[in-house]
Amino acid sequence: MPAASMKQQQGFCFAGFDLGTSALKAVLVDDAQGIVAQSEVTLSVSRPRDLWSEQDPQIWWTALETAVAELRAKNRKAWTQIRGVGLSGQMHGAVLLDAENVPLRPAILWNDGRAFAECRELTQAVPDIGSLAGVDAMPGFLAPKLIWLGHHEPDVFAKMTRVMLPKDYLRLRMTGEFSTDMSDAAGTLLLDVSHRSWSARLLEAVKVTQAQLPKLLEGSAPSGSLAPSLANAWGLSDGVVVAAGGGDAACGAIGIGAVEEGQAFVSLGTSAQYVVVRDAHRPLSGTGIHAFCHALPSRWFQMAALLNGASAAGWIARALGRGDIDALMNETEAGFRGPSNLIFLPYLQGERTPHNDPKAKGVFFGLHPGITATDLVQAVLEGVAFSVADAQAALLAAGADPELPSVIGGGARNRFWMKLLASVLGKPLALRREGEKGPAFGAARLARLAVTGEALSEVCAAPPIASIIEPEPELTCAYADRLSRYRSLYKALKSEFQQGSNPAS
Ligand code: XUL
Repeated sequence: MPAASMKQQQGFCFAGFDLGTSALKAVLVDDAQGIVAQSEVTLSVSRPRDLWSEQDPQIWWTALETAVAELRAKNRKAWTQIRGVGLSGQMHGAVLLDAENVPLRPAILWNDGRAFAECRELTQAVPDIGSLAGVDAMPGFLAPKLIWLGHHEPDVFAKMTRVMLPKDYLRLRMTGEFSTDMSDAAGTLLLDVSHRSWSARLLEAVKVTQAQLPKLLEGSAPSGSLAPSLANAWGLSDGVVVAAGGGDAACGAIGIGAVEEGQAFVSLGTSAQYVVVRDAHRPLSGTGIHAFCHALPSRWFQMAALLNGASAAGWIARALGRGDIDALMNETEAGFRGPSNLIFLPYLQGERTPHNDPKAKGVFFGLHPGITATDLVQAVLEGVAFSVADAQAALLAAGADPELPSVIGGGARNRFWMKLLASVLGKPLALRREGEKGPAFGAARLARLAVTGEALSEVCAAPPIASIIEPEPELTCAYADRLSRYRSLYKALKSEFQQGSNPAS
């Protein structure tokens, strides 16, 4: 459809589905970009061995069907007005299918650390991988996991007719099309990121062929239409477009309106990302920065990817037997007397930026008999903030200059934590109105672009700023000392972490 005005979209709705790790989230968005229905279906992760993290693709499909039924029940009129669907998803997962499109094994997820030895092998085969693929080899990415499968599960590797990212499995079942978008493709470590095409050298190193990989599309391009049988079962008209969509980091960016050079945000969800949009591919090997394609044409981003975000706060609440995390945060705020001497390393499931260390673990340092439950919580909030400061330092080293980053994700809801974060970073942070819309909303925006061809500026505006959290200069000063102790502690423990895990045993 040629470019059309907002007016011509009246009565159109778009759906966005974000296949996360702990939940599949879905939104139904009307022509004025209001969310008119939403649904969230919980997912669980299986950790059969140390460092392993897996999910059965069938649970994703079941969750999608539940979300569809919920959206439909919540707003029947808007549901029937859907013209396009966008897909967002957890990145880097390896979904392996046989010739009949049946999964050969559970998907190996982004936070799986088993393929660390294979990263060395890949780097030896392609020494310039950090600039070619935009990031140094790390175990969570798809390419080293494929090498691992070749070594440890050769039968599965031999039967693998297709390999894809998690959201693209949903697309295959929705449309019959085998395709992906550039942002998710970048997270495989098989993409020549500056040319936005599969890299023959990387494919050869991993022993996969282009026929086994999905077709590459820009995120705002149509990837196909909902299969007629599904459209019928779901009560939709024929010809509903499924946009290529994007990885959750890119869709989160689009949802918050980070689509132009220099626009930045921190996402504090299960994992955390600090993202700056760039108008060119700007990798820097050795920093842990992921220089990936954006889900929009001619755009890239630099991202510091942290494996432990708001999930660390959830973990300490569970460990303390406290179901009501908000009450626990309020008690922690009430007891706050300044930066803690208790240092927490938040590496509960290893870390990517800046350490590239799947074996790193969580640590409390400085315990004494006077330490209380809320002291532990404060240290956890500060530890995650220190890891975001490491992310910011890596971005600065890679030439990004994030100005007034927005904060999104569950963690952004707690103003006390945001005050600590702004003070640790020494930067004001913007909270945006309805900043919680997240990647599913970004995916719905991509669906709209795919259907209408409207200008980016018409569809991808940033929500208005609700408030700016200013750093407190005294805290910034006090935290500088704690941050340097935090960094020293990781250095001192690094070799200890390497002793702790032996996933192949
Ligand atoms: C980004 C990353 C996470 C996952 C899960 O590199 O690993 O954002 O996509 O959300």
